[in-house]
Amino acid sequence: MNNSEKWTNTYKKMDMPYPSEYVIRIFKGRYPKLDFYSKGYSDKSILDISCGIGRNFPLFAQLGFGKIAGTEITQEIVDVIHNNCQKMGIEADVRVGNNENLGFESESFDFLLAWNVCYYLNENKKNFEKHVVEYARVLKKGGVLVFSIPCEDAFIYDKAIKGDKYLEITNDWFKGRNGTIQRYFKNEQEIEDAFGEYFENFVFGKISDDCFGLSYKWHIGYCIKK
Ligand SMILES: C[S@@+](CC[C@H](N)C(=O)[O-])C[C@H]1O[C@@H](n2cnc3c(N)ncnc32)[C@H](O)[C@@H]1O
Repeated sequence: MNNSEKWTNTYKKMDMPYPSEYVIRIFKGRYPKLDFYSKGYSDKSILDISCGIGRNFPLFAQLGFGKIAGTEITQEIVDVIHNNCQKMGIEADVRVGNNENLGFESESFDFLLAWNVCYYLNENKKNFEKHVVEYARVLKKGGVLVFSIPCEDAFIYDKAIKGDKYLEITNDWFKGRNGTIQRYFKNEQEIEDAFGEYFENFVFGKISDDCFGLSYKWHIGYCIKK
């Protein structure tokens, strides 16, 4: 079974999960280095890249975003999301897309959310540079890219076979990603370097959790499209 089929099967069986606590914090919280909330969202558009089954959409709707959009990698997953949106009475423009081709018009969003997504490759092709170009393409100048990326010692990289920029997952707790190649980052500077041609003003946070035996360690942050 390939990557797309695995994700499609997972999402067809999944009940609607809640948003990640840190997505809520980022969009509703006020912190020393982050405050989107106080400016309001009613004139803002957001694209949730590979949004799963749309778990963040109720949050975006409650926050009053002017336009909500999302992508997922197969039409079957997009159908699940449309169905969820209909049940929740949420209007969202959801299209098939992936990190190399998001399927939306250029410079059409104020916010891009790439929550545990940017480092997934199409068919294990080591094309990360294309993801950065594509993210920059759909964001407006001055738009915000919000991301989460595993730290090198996150559980999904346990026993991974590491090259300089890419690794192969071998011991995924959730099993499905074993054999998958991903772009990985050893530190914040490497993230900044990888995105830096098109993005600036990087602001980082960090999730560092021993989640009952899972090393739950993530770089989180945002940067601005040049
Ligand atoms: C860990 S999940 C995160 C999903 C969602 N953002 C969330 O927070 O629940 C990774 C997601 O990446 C998607 N994905 C897999 N390969 C991809 C690719 N080449 N381009 C973009 N997304 C991909 C999967 O469909 C899946 O939804």
